[in-house]
Amino acid sequence: MRLYINIDHVATVRQARRTDEPDPVRAAVLAELGGADGITIHLREDRRHIDDRDARLLAATVRTGINFELAAAARMVDIAVELAPMQATLVPEKREEVTTEGGLDLASPSVRDAVGTSLRRLEAAGIRTSLFIDPDRDAVGRSAKLGANAVELHTGEYANASSDAEKAAELARLAAAAARGHALGLAVHAGHGLTYENVTPVAALPHVEELNIGHSVVSRAVLVGLERAAREMKSIVLAAPGQVAEPGRWIPPIGY
Ligand code: PXP
Repeated sequence: MRLYINIDHVATVRQARRTDEPDPVRAAVLAELGGADGITIHLREDRRHIDDRDARLLAATVRTGINFELAAAARMVDIAVELAPMQATLVPEKREEVTTEGGLDLASPSVRDAVGTSLRRLEAAGIRTSLFIDPDRDAVGRSAKLGANAVELHTGEYANASSDAEKAAELARLAAAAARGHALGLAVHAGHGLTYENVTPVAALPHVEELNIGHSVVSRAVLVGLERAAREMKSIVLAAPGQVAEPGRWIPPIGY
């Protein structure tokens, strides 16, 4: 099993102020040091988080491999071909959505055309290809027919299931889709909405060889890093000329 860390939301925090921190390029280095097998980024057409500068620098500096998520649109495929990431995952994209809401609608002839054209261009550029789809039999079959190397099964319905029975049913759908993908010669990936609490049954599914996880990891990074960050700022503030620590108030040292 490979774990790809999606660092889009490091860029989301930066874009909240349109400044230069936190830098997703630095975040990618840290994720790799933590054992990530690859870095996933989604260069959205509206550039709401990752931007062209990030994509370019990440392509030049990531040492594991980049899984580049993009819409099946010619101008996005142009960028992928130029950056030559290790892998490209085609995803549906709507401007109004908060995040990718469903898999590619491969039942639609126009989507199939756009995906097929994009796949052929990516393949010609030597980029491994994957399609983000809902875990259903037809979508897996259509992905194989279109000639993708892999499918990424959308785990959002599993993640959002509100009862144990619903969760078990969604897990069974994922298992069946993974088995079908494997039987058709596709590599099987999974992702979306996976968290520290719900990832284990998905990581245990036969044939799933790659997970893409972003929001939960970036969320945890904010919390596990905040205590240290507050301490570091406090020590700078108290080191300013004229500042004295309150008598009797112990301030824990950095790294305590
Ligand atoms: N896989 C795909 C195709 C995605 O679009 C996303 C979200 O950008 C993810 C995985 C990661 O989802 P999450 O941020 O919920 O872990």
